[in-house]
Amino acid sequence: MVATDDAIAAAREAARSASSLDELRAALEKFDGCALKGSATRLVFADGNPSAKIMLVGEAPGRDEDIEGVPFVGRAGKLLDRMLAAIGLDRTSVYLANVVPWRPPGNRTPTPQETQICLPFVLRQVELANPDILICLGQLSAQALLGTKDSISKSRGRWFTFTTGYAEKREIRAMPIFHPDFLLLSPLQKRIAWRDLLSVKKALAE
Ligand code: URA
Repeated sequence: MVATDDAIAAAREAARSASSLDELRAALEKFDGCALKGSATRLVFADGNPSAKIMLVGEAPGRDEDIEGVPFVGRAGKLLDRMLAAIGLDRTSVYLANVVPWRPPGNRTPTPQETQICLPFVLRQVELANPDILICLGQLSAQALLGTKDSISKSRGRWFTFTTGYAEKREIRAMPIFHPDFLLLSPLQKRIAWRDLLSVKKALAE
């Protein structure tokens, strides 16, 4: 593995050079700067509709996603589908990705180094998909994509501005919400997550 700074620089360059989501996926398939690629079964790039008005970004694939190569297909994914259905959405009307596209061993949280190395790719993925609204699922996604240091209990339900930065500067409305994995452990928080989703529904209708 190359040193972290070199890997981040290589990731930035590879992400910048990709001019479509297909090229970005191909660049990730070729990228060797993140050690997680060696332990994961496959790349988990995206699911859903890349032209959707809304894009959701989670943390990293788990076991089921690593097997299928598709984000959010396990238990958390099933809950996410129910959350989306509550505001009239499904995988034909959203685009889904993760900050880190390879499964960390044993489903551990990605390290800050792994996150920083993968970040240029997901930033470019948001820029290329160009949604009207970006939803960060959980704290790692909110902190990585929005640059906030706030905990998810503080940032959730608030509107942030995500500024794209590779090809051109563009502003996208963004909101962190609770991660479905957290809601599986803390079902009492679902009420809050559903309330946040209603704000998203309202914003989509504007
Ligand atoms: N959790 C995530 O953050 N992403 C997935 O794809 C699955 C579970």
